[in-house]
Amino acid sequence: MAVDVILGLQWGDEGKGKIVDYLADQYDLVCRFQGGPNAGHTIKIQDKKFILHTIPSGIFRAHITNIIGNGVVLDPITLSKEMNILDQAGIEYKHRLLISSKAHLILPTHRYLDAATEASKGQSRIGSTLKGIGPAYMDKTGRNGLRVGDLLTQDFKSKYNNIREKHLNLVKLYPEIEFDLEVQESQFFESIEVLKQLKFINSEYFINQALSEGKQILAEGAQGSMLDIDFGTYPFVTSSNTTSAGVCSGLGIAPNKIREVIGIAKAYCTRVGSGPFPTELLDETGEKLRTLGHEVGATTGRPRRCGWLDIPQLQYTIMLNGVTQIVLTKMDVLDTFETIQIAHSYRYDHKESNELPFDIVGKPIDPVYHQFEGWNTSLDAITSYQDLPSKALQYIETLESRLNTRISMVSTGPERHKLLPK
Ligand code: GDP
Ligand code: IMO
Ligand code: MG
Repeated sequence: MAVDVILGLQWGDEGKGKIVDYLADQYDLVCRFQGGPNAGHTIKIQDKKFILHTIPSGIFRAHITNIIGNGVVLDPITLSKEMNILDQAGIEYKHRLLISSKAHLILPTHRYLDAATEASKGQSRIGSTLKGIGPAYMDKTGRNGLRVGDLLTQDFKSKYNNIREKHLNLVKLYPEIEFDLEVQESQFFESIEVLKQLKFINSEYFINQALSEGKQILAEGAQGSMLDIDFGTYPFVTSSNTTSAGVCSGLGIAPNKIREVIGIAKAYCTRVGSGPFPTELLDETGEKLRTLGHEVGATTGRPRRCGWLDIPQLQYTIMLNGVTQIVLTKMDVLDTFETIQIAHSYRYDHKESNELPFDIVGKPIDPVYHQFEGWNTSLDAITSYQDLPSKALQYIETLESRLNTRISMVSTGPERHKLLPK
């Protein structure tokens, strides 16, 4: 009886999908606890690549039940598209994909509002994925939202029209933008019918019952801890708690049920969208990371900003999440670097510190780097951790010692089998 958690330790896209898919085999349930279709979790199985936005990444393991938790904001249009992709791939999933009745719905007008508010911000825009995440969570906390369970109530249409009217009045506050509401609404109502093929459940009861029966549960996070609404680089964040606290509120799991917190970190850093990024490289090294790492957003197709690994940033997110082990991904991307750098501490306000300042948005941070010699060998053919080049092992050991946390696996490619447990 235990819940293990997988979440991102940086700014998202750390490779969570691949690791959830790999580890899912050891669990009975895989549950998404927050976020929505702003997520893009890539899973490569042989020559097939899937990008999941809402469906948990345990779906490719035939015996596993997958739950979309109450903490998720769900867009029926995206979900029905994902279902269609799984149908086409011949995956049987409908009996083992369950949705919390308490998950909030993203309506077309939430996306309309997201687009209008972002457009009005000009240079100071957040770089949102424009999936309606912010407005949907605003309605949730503002106690106006519609939930999945509402879809089965007689007066859904009138509730929908009510909130739609409110949204259309709000949109008038912003400069006009193009948005084909009629087309989006017709897709929305078609998708609702597709969604109704799935079972809506009181997921908090279902999950706690599974726990009491001794089942193993894996909670899958979206985004990364630096995008957390409370602890991220506010306001350049998403609108949910992406940290381990989100597991409790997003699934109805008590804190004392959580066992392992598996933090996923890339061997370097990326960020998509605006906001502070202390180790960002705006030069050809950054470009090289982007090219070799294929650093393009899985949801939006935008190029990801790239930079070196950042120890103070990781220390912070390890602290916030209670990380018990780290999976280091994309090590292979560093294969051809003569030298590799790690930000060891920060310099700001004329002092050296490992603490992220409150005003991280306004304050120039000067990272203090440590340089490593690269291993300059392809990791492609390596099939066991012990066979990693000694310089790669040195890099990993330095990280473990600076982060005071065990690195339990190293990922060396996008495919399922490219993973070296320690
Ligand atoms: P997520 O949002 O955390 O699931 O990550 P994304 O799917 O958005 O981005 C991770 C990208 O890196 C995807 O294209 C993965 O296929 C790819 N990937 C994952 N692990 C590795 C790895 O170890 N090496 C390489 N080269 N690519 C990887
Ligand atoms: P996964 O789960 C990377 C970023 C957006 C933007 C900010 C707010 O694939 O790691 P939002 O759409 O939530 O209003 O956007 O957060 N963002 C992500 N960046 N990976 C993600 O998810 C992200 N989800 C949101 O780019 O900067
Ligand atoms: Mg992603």
